[in-house]
Amino acid sequence: MPSGTKLDDLQARFGVAGALRFEEAGGLVRAVVATARAQGDVYLQGAHVARYRPAGQQQPVLFVSTRSAFAAGKAIRGGVPLIFPWFGAKADNPSAPQHGFARVAAFDVESARADGDGKVTLVLRLEADAASRRAWPHDFVARYRVTMGETLELAFEVENRSASPFAYEEALHTYLTVGDVRKATIGGLAGTTFIDKVDGLKRKREGAAPIQLGGETDRVYLDTTATCVVDDPVLGRRLVVDKQGSASTVVWNPWNEKAKGMADFGDDEWPRMVCIETANAADNAVTLPPGAKHETSALIRAEAR
Ligand code: BG6
Repeated sequence: MPSGTKLDDLQARFGVAGALRFEEAGGLVRAVVATARAQGDVYLQGAHVARYRPAGQQQPVLFVSTRSAFAAGKAIRGGVPLIFPWFGAKADNPSAPQHGFARVAAFDVESARADGDGKVTLVLRLEADAASRRAWPHDFVARYRVTMGETLELAFEVENRSASPFAYEEALHTYLTVGDVRKATIGGLAGTTFIDKVDGLKRKREGAAPIQLGGETDRVYLDTTATCVVDDPVLGRRLVVDKQGSASTVVWNPWNEKAKGMADFGDDEWPRMVCIETANAADNAVTLPPGAKHETSALIRAEAR
């Protein structure tokens, strides 16, 4: 349970009347954005954006499971888990936690501001420490800039503070809300090669048509910097994911059978989400020389169709 003092301190240093406040929820600390332009939550654990709804949208842009844990050391099932420094299983240590340590790490608040027009920007920071070095022996500083307004902007920067180069993978593991994933289509990945994680990691090439999912889907699309558009006829909107500094896009939906096996995901929730992840994974891992930085960002917006 966070101490009152810590909350008071965060509130005093970074709170903005009428735009941003800090509160405790289920033993975790979260920043709550509430302006005329947007509503949202960002948990300091994992720098986890767990809620975002711009003004004018009846449905949230981000999906969060009703069964999600909100607890120390557990990743939230939904929103935008921040995946770093490896994606999926760690290549040289299969017993390391899936998707890296960042999504449950304690981030600090570096800065916060509101522009007076309903747009709020929060910068969170994570640095290597003894625990991270045990899992991944490199010195780094990571900064995550989250801007909520008419759009959601996520920018994750990693700086190499080591004396030698390192390589890492990352993903802004964005769970998007859709009316029915079976009726939605995903545009932007035509002709792109992907690793099919539900078919023995075979490499395949996407066809020309927008993607319509028909079963469990877990694909790492490679060498793509394209904008993805989720066209959702049920909710009558398009969700647009525009990105920079990212060469992979991951598309994931567990479908019915896998959903049943997930303790933190309702059996019937899978039709209401699709993950479109702005990533650098597999062949597209980032290599940073000492002192260098790399930023990966996503700009997410909802528009009427
Ligand atoms: C996706 C992976 O990004 O995340 C999937 O490609 C994985 O393989 C999914 O199942 C969810 O991962 P987790 O660790 O949050 O259950």
